[in-house]
Amino acid sequence: MSVDTPRRTFAIISHPDAGKTTLTEKVLLLGGGIRSAGTVKGKKSGKFATSDWMEIEKQRGISVTSSVMQLLYNDVQINILDTPGHQDFSEDTYRTLTAVDTAVMVIDSVKGIEAQTLKLFKVCRMRGIPILTFINKLDREGKEPLDLLSEIEETLEMDTYPMNWPVGMGKRLKGIYSIPDDTVEIYNDSHEREIIPYKEESVLQDYEREALEEEIMLLEEAGNEYSHEKVQNGTLTPVFFGSALSNFGVQSFLDQFVKLAAPPQPRKASGESVPPESPQFSGFIFKIQANMNPNHRDRIAFLRVCSGQFDRGMEVTLSRTGKKMKLNQSHSFFASDRETVESAKPGDIVGLYDSGNFQVGDTIVGGGERLQYEEMPQFPPEKFAKVTAKNALKHKQYHKGIEQLVQEGTIQLYKTPYFEDYIIGAVGELQFQVFEYRMKNEYKVDIEFQHMTHELARWVTKGKVSDDMTDSRKMLVNDQQGRAVLLFENDFALRWFSDKHPDVELSTGWDILE
Ligand code: G4P
Repeated sequence: MSVDTPRRTFAIISHPDAGKTTLTEKVLLLGGGIRSAGTVKGKKSGKFATSDWMEIEKQRGISVTSSVMQLLYNDVQINILDTPGHQDFSEDTYRTLTAVDTAVMVIDSVKGIEAQTLKLFKVCRMRGIPILTFINKLDREGKEPLDLLSEIEETLEMDTYPMNWPVGMGKRLKGIYSIPDDTVEIYNDSHEREIIPYKEESVLQDYEREALEEEIMLLEEAGNEYSHEKVQNGTLTPVFFGSALSNFGVQSFLDQFVKLAAPPQPRKASGESVPPESPQFSGFIFKIQANMNPNHRDRIAFLRVCSGQFDRGMEVTLSRTGKKMKLNQSHSFFASDRETVESAKPGDIVGLYDSGNFQVGDTIVGGGERLQYEEMPQFPPEKFAKVTAKNALKHKQYHKGIEQLVQEGTIQLYKTPYFEDYIIGAVGELQFQVFEYRMKNEYKVDIEFQHMTHELARWVTKGKVSDDMTDSRKMLVNDQQGRAVLLFENDFALRWFSDKHPDVELSTGWDILE
């Protein structure tokens, strides 16, 4: 693909089973058949993509890892970043969101917005990037479209603007009416695309027309006005109805997507806004993935290019350490396939071979200024466990394994003062299981967990804390950067502490979640 082609980089977020994989497959197929879409995740096809190394995923049928896909559509290069659907890996999804310019939210029309994904949707909303909504499974008897819009508006505190409107649903589904075009896309069994001007359309019964016209009138009177600016700053989401499985409404969605999705945006580094046009090459690592393919026992660091141009073999500096290196091994991705990438531009994702130099959040720059993109925000963990190696003689592999898995962002690590006991923190239980599995399989270390009852982590931002503050309900630890963190059993213990120590200021480490 040419470096001159405009880029649109996005990720899909959804609750598991809402239809993210199906939609991704259909979208890829529309990309002029650059590659077959059957390789996205292959739940059914029997092909496994990037993550087939991980039994845990196969057993549970969830996508733990993210991969990157590309397609060319209407002369736009679209980069899709896959995200794990399961809520236990929200942190991973969040990090992926830092690397995109647009998000697509897929909602199951039968279920609406599901509680476990609400937090993730909210986080996405707070990034201030355009969010396009695809309400899926219109071929099923779902919630009323107007109710779905209100649900989005109320739970996510953002305006909605329907781009199309369903005529019937489930067995009664006749089509979708395109509001901007005044056309109807007919739903038919052959799944052939059939678009007819509304006035000429003859498939709809009188009562269907009446119902549709009434709803459109209601939307015109009581609905929101369209504002491109609001779409761009993520306060208004254009909503599309369709059925990914029936390939219905997917192309109409993609046609609009290329118009509405944001181009690569300026990003903050070292306190300044770096525009993509800036000649100096820069990018940051948002994900590190080990053993993506059992045939390559290595790590791949996923780099989002933010400015300038990336050329294979170029000399770059790792801003955190000042280390200079040549990036010879760079890949672009399509699920399990890797292709060597010669050059990349802002918006692109490049996979870099990593022998242990990189960590999540690292900035890489070409010659010139040593920029540092903003730190990756962490999800405050909610589950903690003390961890030890079952066999003390394996301490070398144990430490190496922990160090690498922490660099990858698989889990968060804390240490107690003096004794330096290892405490790992996670957002969800599955992260512990992935950690245990990988320690055993990749580093040959059996580990033992001692689950803790603590549920809250608070970073100490002001005031003095000391080791004697540790008691049965709270514990003082240090994070990877040596910052003091207090772990509390529950809200009560936190409030009790705050009342007793008004001089100590605490933060979730990530204020936007508050
Ligand atoms: P996910 O990646 O968000 O987890 O969802 P995925 O696409 O895997 O879809 C989850 C299930 O919903 C799948 O069925 C899929 O076929 C179905 N599905 C997706 N889009 C639609 C749609 O528009 N209408 C209907 N009726 N179903 C849809 P499954 O039986 O769980 O899996 P499979 O065995 O069919 O793969």
